[in-house]
Amino acid sequence: MRVTIRDLSRFKSEQRRFTVLTAYDHLTASILDEAGIPVLLVGDSLGQVVLGYENTIPVTMQEMLHHTAAVVRGTRKALVVADMPFGSYQGSIAEGFSNAIRFLKEAGAHAVKVEGARVELAQTLVDHGIPVMAHLGLTPQSVHALGGYRVQARTQESADRLQSDALSMEKAGACALVLEAIPAEVATAVSSSLTIPTIGIGAGSGCDAQVMVITDLLGMDSGVSPKFVKRYANLRETITGAVQSFRDDVESGKYPDEQHSYR
Ligand code: KIV
Repeated sequence: MRVTIRDLSRFKSEQRRFTVLTAYDHLTASILDEAGIPVLLVGDSLGQVVLGYENTIPVTMQEMLHHTAAVVRGTRKALVVADMPFGSYQGSIAEGFSNAIRFLKEAGAHAVKVEGARVELAQTLVDHGIPVMAHLGLTPQSVHALGGYRVQARTQESADRLQSDALSMEKAGACALVLEAIPAEVATAVSSSLTIPTIGIGAGSGCDAQVMVITDLLGMDSGVSPKFVKRYANLRETITGAVQSFRDDVESGKYPDEQHSYR
């Protein structure tokens, strides 16, 4: 049976920590689904991870729909959350509503995620049967307004604002809340004040769940990664080794051999 937002709420009440991973394609989604990851997020990190953009701002609805549909096709059990891209919900509630509908109707997503305290939008979506995941703290779509990718809620005033935004999003009906790049103490306090699960990324161990960008976890990225990233594999090295062995075998005539040829 597929994980639902009721399960997320149950995990919180049973104090069961859970994992969320990003996925952008069918193959990876099927591996994560079979591995028992309960929630897959088709993050707009797609922009940097898969499409080679500098940040998430250029990501379009069309790109998100295309990748979300592929991820949904790769899953049987995981709850798939689609990230609403920059410009798809900031203009008006009506626009956000019709774009959110597209994720459920055209791509088969089970929930959408929005950045910032979008209380009225969340209320409208939830009232019309669209589960909403909220996202506070470092919200990458506001990178220019924030002056870069910085840890948020470091002052008492900003921590208080985050706390009150979190409560407003919960009241609006959000099913979970991503907390990105905030001090662990702030995330712990927010988590214990809410009945919905918090999903941390760079927010310490006091959150109810943790999310990571799949390519960071697998060690596929080439550059410097943020402090919170823990690599569980070094696939970049593994892939490089494998393709170089293939190249060497082809160049030396070792491949294809008898075993890999038809007679
Ligand atoms: O786009 C994304 O991958 C995200 C997660 C990092 C939370 O928003």
